[in-house]
Amino acid sequence: MAIYDIFKTYVENAAEGPFFSANIPKAASAAMPVDFLGFTLNSPIGVPAGPLLNSKWIALAADLGFDLPTYKTIRSFSHPGHPLPNIIFVERLSKNEARAIEHSAHLAELSITNSFGMPSMSPEFLMQDIQKANASLKSGQLMIVSVVGTANRGISFLDDFVLTAQLARDAGAKVIEANFSCPNVDKAEGCLYMNSETVAEYVQKIASAIRPVPLLIKVGSFANREQMRSVMIAAAKAGCAGICGLNSVSMKVMDEKGDPALGSSRMTSGVCGGAIREDALRFMKDAAAIKQSEKLDLVLLGCGGLLLPQHLALMLDAGASIAMSATGMMWDPFLATKYREMHANVH
Ligand SMILES: Cc1cc2nc3c(=O)[nH]c(=O)nc-3n(C[C@H](O)[C@H](O)[C@H](O)COP(=O)(O)O)c2cc1C
Repeated sequence: MAIYDIFKTYVENAAEGPFFSANIPKAASAAMPVDFLGFTLNSPIGVPAGPLLNSKWIALAADLGFDLPTYKTIRSFSHPGHPLPNIIFVERLSKNEARAIEHSAHLAELSITNSFGMPSMSPEFLMQDIQKANASLKSGQLMIVSVVGTANRGISFLDDFVLTAQLARDAGAKVIEANFSCPNVDKAEGCLYMNSETVAEYVQKIASAIRPVPLLIKVGSFANREQMRSVMIAAAKAGCAGICGLNSVSMKVMDEKGDPALGSSRMTSGVCGGAIREDALRFMKDAAAIKQSEKLDLVLLGCGGLLLPQHLALMLDAGASIAMSATGMMWDPFLATKYREMHANVH
């Protein structure tokens, strides 16, 4: 049973969800401590930006043992996002194409396209709700707040990024993640992470505006390893504390007739879940190798298709300090507990 209702709007899910009525298992809080940017976390398991829409969702994820939950990407102003459908099940056909399907047969392969356009609540709401979300955490837990800038707001795109990061900091964020890679928005917003000069400029300005709060960046797949290396070096030099990837992978998503599944205004959208697990693990192995060879002081957070406890272990083995699940957490809220149980049996 999913805790997010894909037939309801984002606003309805935010108001009525999360849809969870089971008991919280005792094992959800079993300790397997790790260090993260100077904080001690109860486990290396988290939720990346997206599914945790507000403080109620953060509180549930924290109760369920996701010790590093991320507060959904916020903007500097209230924004409605895209209309329904926002989520459909898909199967991947090729590197850049996927087809809508009724439902995935197996949880291990469950894949969706999500297309929300990064809706956001108002700054007034966020100032209170981020505080409330922080207050719901227990010892050994930490929340990241994800932010994004918006073009054409009367100030530069970069300045709006800074403004939004400062809003998050003023609301009490202890770690901030800048989303440089959303595949469902304008090109300017989505492709930032691929250019090392832009990354250096943006990281430098955002990081210095929120210091001492650490800044992470959210990235997608790189065109090649050289691009990845130059971006990671630029980010670290500019004061970035860590990198989270992968974001959902942009694909052409078609219905059974070959027409755009989300309508002609959304020809491509981000695919996440099982279909991108191999990409995400490869990304992490490459990132870890670059981090080591260049001696970069960057913490690595991995997500993408981690649906079963063994997938979380694979991501940590690939070199991530933290393994995170968005799609997996939405369809299996007990994932963090299952990881603890698996770990306890192995050790
Ligand atoms: C419902 C949903 C909403 C998302 N919204 C955001 C977002 O607002 N900002 C962001 O950086 N990533 C967003 N993502 C991407 C996830 O953080 C993650 O990078 C991606 O889904 C891959 O992980 P997964 O396969 O575990 O879902 C979203 C993902 C999902 C499923």
